[in-house]
Amino acid sequence: MKELLLLLLLVTEASSRSHSSWCQRGCECRGDLKFTVCSGALFSQLPGRVPPNTELLDLSDNHISVIPRRSFGRNRKLRFLLLQNNNVSVVEDGGFSQMEFLQKLDLSRNRISTLTEGFSVGLALLRELQLAHNRLTSLDSRSFLHLDGLQRLNLSSNGIRTIQVRSFSSMSSLRQLHLQDNSLRSLRSGTFSMLRSLEVLNLAGNQISDMQTAVFKPLTSMTLLNLADNRMSTVHFKTFLGIHAYSTHILLEENPWNCDCDLQRVFRKLRSIQRLFLDDYYNLTCEEPAVLRDYRLTDVDTELCLAETVTVLVITVTVLVTVLAAMLMGERKRKREKKRNHRLTGAAT
Ligand SMILES: *[C@@H]1O[C@H](CO)[C@@H](O)[C@H](O)[C@H]1NC(C)=O
Ligand SMILES: *[C@@H]1O[C@H](CO)[C@@H](O)[C@H](O)[C@H]1NC(C)=O
Ligand SMILES: *[C@@H]1O[C@H](CO)[C@@H](O)[C@H](O)[C@H]1NC(C)=O
Repeated sequence: MKELLLLLLLVTEASSRSHSSWCQRGCECRGDLKFTVCSGALFSQLPGRVPPNTELLDLSDNHISVIPRRSFGRNRKLRFLLLQNNNVSVVEDGGFSQMEFLQKLDLSRNRISTLTEGFSVGLALLRELQLAHNRLTSLDSRSFLHLDGLQRLNLSSNGIRTIQVRSFSSMSSLRQLHLQDNSLRSLRSGTFSMLRSLEVLNLAGNQISDMQTAVFKPLTSMTLLNLADNRMSTVHFKTFLGIHAYSTHILLEENPWNCDCDLQRVFRKLRSIQRLFLDDYYNLTCEEPAVLRDYRLTDVDTELCLAETVTVLVITVTVLVTVLAAMLMGERKRKREKKRNHRLTGAAT
């Protein structure tokens, strides 16, 4: 009885896998052929036979290295395409064209070093693009030209050093931009222009030391700006004052702060702005001056302006003393003259 049940189970299991002529060996085609899973199948190129009804195609963990032109022309119903952890270095122009229903494309952990204009052709409805752990070093105005509907872009852990102005200019729907763990050194005004829907901007783990004052100004929806683990030693008040979102949380930990009176003043002013939240302010530590290294900014901030306060005090006291002395001298002189006048008039009478 037990064996029979087991056999029955096995038979139904086998038939539900449906190895139809449409399903390539190494893949599993399930759910009315809507899910085609070819993960870890040792493929070195894209499979030839994928059921045309497929909505989710999982090709992760293979050795695919080239995406030829119009690779998915027969799979127009695809909504999710997973290609992470392959060996992709070349996406031919139009490699993903004719995919008008594609919502998510995962290309993370590949070897992509350039994105040509042809890369994004036909991906106008794509909502999520994962490109983390590739070999990109620069982005330009053509990299994402046709991604009008994109909401989430993950570019973390590449080697991105330069981002040309207008690189993201087609993406007015973008809500999350992940650029952490790259090699950015500075941020130029105009880099994030047009990103008026952007809510999350993650720039942690770069080498950013300077930013143009107007760089965050266009980001009127930003709720989280992560600048932790960069090379900032100081910050200009206007750079953050220019963020005109309703409320924005800013992370600034693990930067080599130069704890001087100017820094203390800037932070005091920033913290008084109602729409900005410096969430990790109590975690900021000093790198300069050497005597304050590794001290928390909050533990020393009352003393940072002390030297200046003392100077101001000394000057004030000096001025006061001088004025007082002058007044005293004047008074004494007046009295002496009064006395002399007295004596003179006394002698006359
Ligand atoms: C990955 O692609 C490169 C060429 O881009 C090739 O030399 C290498 O053998 C490929 N590696 C694997 C594991 O397929
Ligand atoms: C971005 O990619 C990294 C690496 O694949 C991943 O760990 C992270 O969760 C991704 N973030 C988002 C928001 O998709
Ligand atoms: C501050 O640092 C501590 C210890 O590293 C950490 O647990 C905490 O989450 C940090 N606080 C914020 C607001 O990031």
